[in-house]
Amino acid sequence: MSQNNLITMDEFTIQETRKFKQATGDLSALLRDLGLAGKIINNQVRKAGLVDILGQHGATNVQGEEQMKLDVFANETLINILKNCTECAGIASEENDDHLSYEDTYSQNAKYVVLFDPLDGSSNIDVNASIGTIFAIYRRVSPIGTPCTLEDFLQPGNKQVAAGYIIYGSSTMMVYATKLGVNGFTLEPSIGEFCLSHPNMKCPEKGKIYSINQGNSVKYDEGMMSYLSFCMENNKEEGRPYSQRYIGSMVADMHRTLIKGGIFIYPGDKSSPKGKLRLQYECNPMTLIMEAAGGMGVSGKENILDIQPTELHQRTPIFIGSKNMVEKAMEFVKAPQNA
Ligand code: AHG
Ligand code: MN
Ligand code: MN
Repeated sequence: MSQNNLITMDEFTIQETRKFKQATGDLSALLRDLGLAGKIINNQVRKAGLVDILGQHGATNVQGEEQMKLDVFANETLINILKNCTECAGIASEENDDHLSYEDTYSQNAKYVVLFDPLDGSSNIDVNASIGTIFAIYRRVSPIGTPCTLEDFLQPGNKQVAAGYIIYGSSTMMVYATKLGVNGFTLEPSIGEFCLSHPNMKCPEKGKIYSINQGNSVKYDEGMMSYLSFCMENNKEEGRPYSQRYIGSMVADMHRTLIKGGIFIYPGDKSSPKGKLRLQYECNPMTLIMEAAGGMGVSGKENILDIQPTELHQRTPIFIGSKNMVEKAMEFVKAPQNA
């Protein structure tokens, strides 16, 4: 990246917003604020290995401050930044039982609400693997000028205005999607800005990787088992089975799937028919990104984005990634014996 050709995320989103006559610039400002939260969380994540030196969660550091677990830190950072900006009326987070409606007048006059998983893949922190932050942005349905309500957060994914993630990996990247497409920005540490590095991202239509926690397969139904056998057979096009890759951090597995193609699956099983992953702040934002990049995301019964949420922390099975691979998986999962 030559320093002279850098386009910062802020410059990019402002240019994009100018394509819409009625745009007020609120969405670019909100994305900038989410990027700021990402930079602050990144700064803390980069120190994660020093936790024994700097103090464990619950321990007190030299200044007499209690150390926070990273997911609590990430949650509080996002809540505070979004509270202090003027574009967000309230939030819902994996870490809070209920949604939070900001009380000040500026926030109540804002038109957007944000749902997020502040730190995804947090069990990977101890082993220094990639983790991330996932967010979904909606236009509120409650009247502007009043406190936002639960209804604002229970909208189906097809109402998302934008969605994205920040991945704290070998480099730090912010990827976001609007209906215009998906773009990726890498943090340039010397200037502290996310810079356009992956314009107009497209998920390859075909892939060679399936990504699933196969250790759960004793609990899978017949359709899932036959699809797994298909993945492990020599397939016609490749002349070899698919490769299996699973990091256990949805952001990291999805980032690979977006760039290289493939399928990521967290299915329902006999003990958890709805799977594990959360609809509103994991599956919906990832599906918006995937669709805007040419891929798809389904629950096994319907498009993820068409599910009408009934509660904040609802779960859904998910099959997401390259279009051809998801469609192929559905031939097995939706086979008549599984109906
Ligand atoms: P979180 O760290 O936000 O709780 O999310 C963990 C999720 C997701 O990132 C990942 O895809 C999945 O849990 C892994 O689950 P298994 O360990 O059951 O495979
Ligand atoms: Mn998560
Ligand atoms: Mn989390």
